[in-house]
Amino acid sequence: MNFAAKSTNIEQCKSDCVVIGVHSHKKLSDRAQQFDQISHVSLKELFQSKTLSGKAGQILELHQPYKTAKTAIIVGFGDSDTISAEDFRLAIKSAATAIKKRAYKTISFFIDDMTVDNWSESQKAQYCAEQLTYASYTFTQCKNHTAPLASPLTRSKILYHSAKNTQTKTGLTVGTAIGNGINVARELGNLPGNICTPSYLAKQARSLARSHKKITSKVLSEKQMQELGMGSLLSVSAGSAEPAQLIIMEYKGAAKSQKPHVLVGKGITFDTGGISLKPGAAMDEMKFDMCGAASVFGTMNTIAQLEPAINIVAIVAAAENMPGSKATKPGDIVTSMSGKTIEILNTDAEGRLVLCDALSYAERYKPQSVIDIATLTGACVIALGSHATGLFSNNDELTKELLDAGNATGDRAWPMPIWDDYKKQLKSNFADLANIGGREAGSITAACFLSHFTQSYPWAHLDIAGTAWLSGTNKGATGRPVSLLTHYLLSKTQ
Ligand code: BES
Ligand code: MN
Ligand code: ZN
Repeated sequence: MNFAAKSTNIEQCKSDCVVIGVHSHKKLSDRAQQFDQISHVSLKELFQSKTLSGKAGQILELHQPYKTAKTAIIVGFGDSDTISAEDFRLAIKSAATAIKKRAYKTISFFIDDMTVDNWSESQKAQYCAEQLTYASYTFTQCKNHTAPLASPLTRSKILYHSAKNTQTKTGLTVGTAIGNGINVARELGNLPGNICTPSYLAKQARSLARSHKKITSKVLSEKQMQELGMGSLLSVSAGSAEPAQLIIMEYKGAAKSQKPHVLVGKGITFDTGGISLKPGAAMDEMKFDMCGAASVFGTMNTIAQLEPAINIVAIVAAAENMPGSKATKPGDIVTSMSGKTIEILNTDAEGRLVLCDALSYAERYKPQSVIDIATLTGACVIALGSHATGLFSNNDELTKELLDAGNATGDRAWPMPIWDDYKKQLKSNFADLANIGGREAGSITAACFLSHFTQSYPWAHLDIAGTAWLSGTNKGATGRPVSLLTHYLLSKTQ
């Protein structure tokens, strides 16, 4: 797909699909009026006959409205002249869904007359580029069809029309890079556990480093992890034939003296639960248990495209959680890299076991901030559903920045407490910590467990168990929270 900024008018535009915005009140927007002048379909009359309501997200497709246009997509942006960010996102998502169903050569957006509350033209163009790139993705890697499987949208040219050309261009570049990063995360997430193994993830890091000169990679083997004392991480891969991999990618976009921001991803390429075996229903979805890692790869891809002036370190703790004769058993006690001992009362609480050693490893970078991203707890899905990512942090400023990043992108997170009151639940009679905290507040006690390993830097934990993938007929990875993370990191450039 290919995006460009344009400043031509509707009558000069030769695209086979034009996108026009309307409001739900009677007065036609500037572009809608221009459209009515050349079209033989009257939007004014469509409003009068109530065919068109202009409600946010409503789509009306008009076929051959005038000679050069095969289709006009009329998009409702809601009642108010100043559109809320939420209504704008809803409208653009609906438009992208309508567009991807057909094959257009050129698609022209004429929505510069749609004003969004506190948004620049660049932000609008950015969101359009992100959503169209998102809409162009289909999972094809494991399908053996003879017909082309990729969406025709991948071959379309998208023109965003506005007088503010330079602003629009910047928006389109950033939005495309974010969309591509999201799709990288979705592809890794959707790949099955027999293909996307810890070694497969390590290979992705090496190939990213090979193609971008500002990125380097390093992969620690189980033997090297043993030498570092990562007994907690290694206890998770103990039952698996696939060796664990600690994958490190460094992006250098600023002076060496600038301390990095660190991302840490949970990369459980399949979570059977281990000896504390999970029930069989929907267990296939545990291939998505590496979506935290996938979002880290996606974000690094976006960063590689945009090359911002910042230093970033990405750490992926990759392992497969399997039962077996060498697997960790309930009651086993392991020593983490920090020296703290852990009684593993449930081998299905494995995410925190790989993350705690990766978080200790992060200390060596003296980071400005550390954010871990993990499909950590089913309890988070119960608490927040599939709309908000759970946000836990030891630093109020970081909390605010991540909340802001979520609100700015629509990839939202919501804060949860990690008070000492909850920490009592992790008491063990036999080790320094237990790896589970009982039935109550499961997502909080998981975060509390991690907080024992993150005391030396500003840290946030994003529990994406509810947001990383969709179940049901639309089963698939969402690529969240790549846009949240990118927004946060870009806000940290000088
Ligand atoms: N990967 C799961 C969490 C999960 C479950 C995410 C379902 C999305 C949907 C994690 O490793 C896990 O199994 N957590 C346990 C923890 C429990 C044993 C304390 C859980 O949430 O049940
Ligand atoms: Mn588990
Ligand atoms: Zn898991």
